[in-house]
Amino acid sequence: MRLANRVAVITGGASGMGQATVMRFLAEGANVVIADYNVTTGEATAAQARRAGFADTVSFVKTDVASEADIASMLAHAVEQFGRLDILFNNAGVGGAIGPLTETSVEDWDYTFDVLAKGVFLGMKHAARILRAQGEGGAIINTASVAGLSGDGGPLAYSAAKAAVINMTRSAAVELAPDRIRVNAICPGFIATPLASGGTDLERTRQSFATSQPWPDYGRGEHIAGAALFLASDDAEFVTGEALVVDGGLTAAGPELSKKFPRVSARNSKVSGITKGSTGEPPHLRRL
Ligand SMILES: NC(=O)c1ccc[n+]([C@@H]2O[C@H](COP(=O)([O-])OP(=O)(O)OC[C@H]3O[C@@H](n4cnc5c(N)ncnc54)[C@H](O)[C@@H]3O)[C@@H](O)[C@H]2O)c1
Repeated sequence: MRLANRVAVITGGASGMGQATVMRFLAEGANVVIADYNVTTGEATAAQARRAGFADTVSFVKTDVASEADIASMLAHAVEQFGRLDILFNNAGVGGAIGPLTETSVEDWDYTFDVLAKGVFLGMKHAARILRAQGEGGAIINTASVAGLSGDGGPLAYSAAKAAVINMTRSAAVELAPDRIRVNAICPGFIATPLASGGTDLERTRQSFATSQPWPDYGRGEHIAGAALFLASDDAEFVTGEALVVDGGLTAAGPELSKKFPRVSARNSKVSGITKGSTGEPPHLRRL
């Protein structure tokens, strides 16, 4: 077991990729605190974990990640329940403000940044204090997004907040490295979760996400749980300040030439050979 006796706190652990990570970390031997704003789904996730045989190693605490007092008591709860802290997964999130830039209110912008950016800042701040005091290192993982890597990857405020998460991750990684506290981010692509389906039919989201990237399956919470496990484990001892993209090749596909110009792309191309641009030399192509 890769996380035997470690103590992990997972924000947004009541749903989606956070919930998948809760179950994976428990199975790998960790003690896990589920921290979520939603008490109904939080308690249900803890009950599910207890039924799966993890009664002694799981706990739920209601938390608003945008509140400094809540973050402090969430981490204190982990120390009280399980004696220490080793891993914090700052994963809670919402879609936040949507719609055109010109229509976005300051209130909606602030809510988006409070949850997605301030929540991560507060988590890192208070976890770093505890981990530093323990003197045995630790791992902090922040959920960013491919939306934080480009334009048109998500709503404007959401994308900006996720870009902030990526940069905070790098800055904190540099600051905390001397204490052997590793700080990494995960940039998920399209993952079929309740957030992504926006309260509509999850099955339809799965079908649509199955063809949203080069990989021929839809993204699952378990894909993110696997990446989080690696970053939380000793296998990632020399990995810090990384923003790990987990997107089935979505960002690798970039401008998607294969869809727009099938002839020049390796994907689906029906010809092979050499073209020599404006040299006046003819191309040498063969049909495949
Ligand atoms: N699903 C995707 O396609 C996708 C892609 C990239 C990034 N993400 C990010 O992944 C993370 C997890 O998202 P998910 O898709 O699993 O969504 P989800 O809705 O299934 O789970 C998110 C959880 O966060 C909780 N939460 C929301 N606001 C909170 C707050 N203020 N305090 C505490 N908990 C709060 C919710 O109650 C929920 O349980 C988010 O940060 C999201 O932005 C999702």
